[in-house]
Amino acid sequence: MDEKFNPGMPLIPSRRGLNPSRLLVAVGYLVLVGFMWCYFSQPYPHHHNPAAASISPKNKAVVVEEPERDLVPLEAHIMSKCPDAKDCLRDLVLPTMQKAYSKVNFTLSFIGKTTDYNDGVACKHGPQECLGNIIELCAQKLYPDPKIYLGFTMCLTKDYPHIPQRPLIEDCALEHAVDFDELNECATKDDGAFGMGMLRKSVKRTAEAGVTKSCTVRLNNEIYCIRDGAQWTDCPAGAKPNDLVIAIEKLYYHGNN
Ligand SMILES: *[C@@H]1O[C@H](CO)[C@@H](O)[C@H](O)[C@H]1NC(C)=O
Repeated sequence: MDEKFNPGMPLIPSRRGLNPSRLLVAVGYLVLVGFMWCYFSQPYPHHHNPAAASISPKNKAVVVEEPERDLVPLEAHIMSKCPDAKDCLRDLVLPTMQKAYSKVNFTLSFIGKTTDYNDGVACKHGPQECLGNIIELCAQKLYPDPKIYLGFTMCLTKDYPHIPQRPLIEDCALEHAVDFDELNECATKDDGAFGMGMLRKSVKRTAEAGVTKSCTVRLNNEIYCIRDGAQWTDCPAGAKPNDLVIAIEKLYYHGNN
């Protein structure tokens, strides 16, 4: 039976009944009241938020945006087969990076002497160290994220007497998701000239900074601390990771002046 033509149906629906148009009016009313409540309550600070309470509505935008800040240059100058490099990375550089990673532009540089007669580099612990340095520079080139190449370098450095033996490099590559074949290709590219070019550039950068000792940590282009002969030297601001983290945060938040 078709309800529309039911003569018994009242013209005005009973008050308790719910039909689509009544529902629409009710929802519309709630939306309007809700909107008005939100709109008028907005200019007032939320008292449970002390930061917002002190700000007037006019300059509200100021709190929302963090200013863009410059990364602080942090650099470690090492030799791949040096025991001081191991202590320095393990006890200072890595723990610092774990805490201040996002505030730092990190560079790993190498110590050696460029040789003019063959466009090469002389390394203190011999040609094997030079090759180790090149492998670490290749990792830095292929995986610019310090989390990867610094972890890989630390892995090699822990077992530095075995640098640059293949099983060690393969193990560390596997452990840090570094592609061994890419690493090998980088280190042997152009008969080794490519890697040697990177090492010469790195060694020159170290010499220009006046750095001679492995390991030297520089913060904001100035010597921060030196690990030499199994001791910390020249570390007036402290050789603990927390000291360096504080120094980084000072520079990051308050600039270089
Ligand atoms: C990081 O430092 C290097 C020099 O070591 C520089 O070439 C590079 O532009 C810097 N990057 C950033 C993001 O500051």
